[in-house]
Amino acid sequence: MPSLEGKVAIVTGAGRGIGREHALALARAGATVVVNDLGATLAGEGADETPARQVVAEIESLGRAAVANGDDVADFAGAERLVRQALDSFGRLDILVNNAGITRDRMLVNMTEDEWDAVIAVHLKGHFGPTRHAAAYWRERSKAGEDVRGRVINTSSPSGVFGNVGQANYGTAKAGIAAFTIIAAQELVRYGVTVNCLAPSARTRMTEAAFGELEKPEDEFDAMDPANIAPVVVALCADDAQGITGQCFFVYGGAVNVLRSWDAGELFERDSIWDADDLLAQLKERFPDGVSPDGMAQMAKAGGRSLRTAG
Ligand SMILES: NC(=O)c1ccc[n+]([C@@H]2O[C@H](COP(=O)([O-])OP(=O)(O)OC[C@H]3O[C@@H](n4cnc5c(N)ncnc54)[C@H](O)[C@@H]3O)[C@@H](O)[C@H]2O)c1
Repeated sequence: MPSLEGKVAIVTGAGRGIGREHALALARAGATVVVNDLGATLAGEGADETPARQVVAEIESLGRAAVANGDDVADFAGAERLVRQALDSFGRLDILVNNAGITRDRMLVNMTEDEWDAVIAVHLKGHFGPTRHAAAYWRERSKAGEDVRGRVINTSSPSGVFGNVGQANYGTAKAGIAAFTIIAAQELVRYGVTVNCLAPSARTRMTEAAFGELEKPEDEFDAMDPANIAPVVVALCADDAQGITGQCFFVYGGAVNVLRSWDAGELFERDSIWDADDLLAQLKERFPDGVSPDGMAQMAKAGGRSLRTAG
């Protein structure tokens, strides 16, 4: 694997699930890790530093350095403390993996304001805050003449890029994270920072809460193992990955699919303002069978499987 020796990484939500695997993989590749985790319930309630401390102990048992951080990533000042802790503890920051997340699934017609606000805050603001503070640090280093090779890896979701019924709050935040990735990549390229995002699928408390216990095969490759998501993170953090930015990777088992983002699309154009009747006639021709987004059926095409249809 590429060596990340000498690099310092922050992984948010690294106390369990996918984030824990990212933190362990980065440490195995040689990085020093700040293990952030609020220790909240799946719905984002409560706080407990035990999961973060346990992952720190696991990293230390690999012979690598790590510290725990219990800040809430949705708190802008907390995000600044997190970045500051990396710098105060280890003198530098090279990698930020924004991974912390919660779910409060509900059909749109019944969703409460709190369910909307909490999910948008942890995911969207929880990506903005740490990235904003890390980016200010990298800009400073770059302006001081350093050859910066900063890395931001965000966490979107198939729910955000394909759409998933019952997740208007979560999917909207995750689609926002995909857009945030593109804009941050555009802005930070000048400072030597790459920004990419993942749309993972793995067995964690998050998927088990939504779909029930997911079987773990005894003798064959476990495609749902959350450890399967980490190699793409290690690869993107390598110095050699400096030219890869602004991408969204669907990751499931052994499938790593570089997703296509919104593109310029199909142009309907005339030299003057459209007559609505003419436009409607052309659109009806374009969509003869009506329009209904594929949603999670895209999972199979992307190389994964829809847990919803798998039961
Ligand atoms: N598991 C999947 O299949 C899947 C699919 C798509 C996206 N994701 C995304 O992957 C990421 C990791 O999810 P997971 O499945 O490992 O879930 P998880 O619940 O196992 O882990 C999420 C971690 O984030 C922490 N956290 C929650 N709110 C926080 C906050 N405000 N500040 C700091 N830490 C906080 C939790 O304490 C928890 O340890 C999430 O962003 C999730 O939305 C997961």
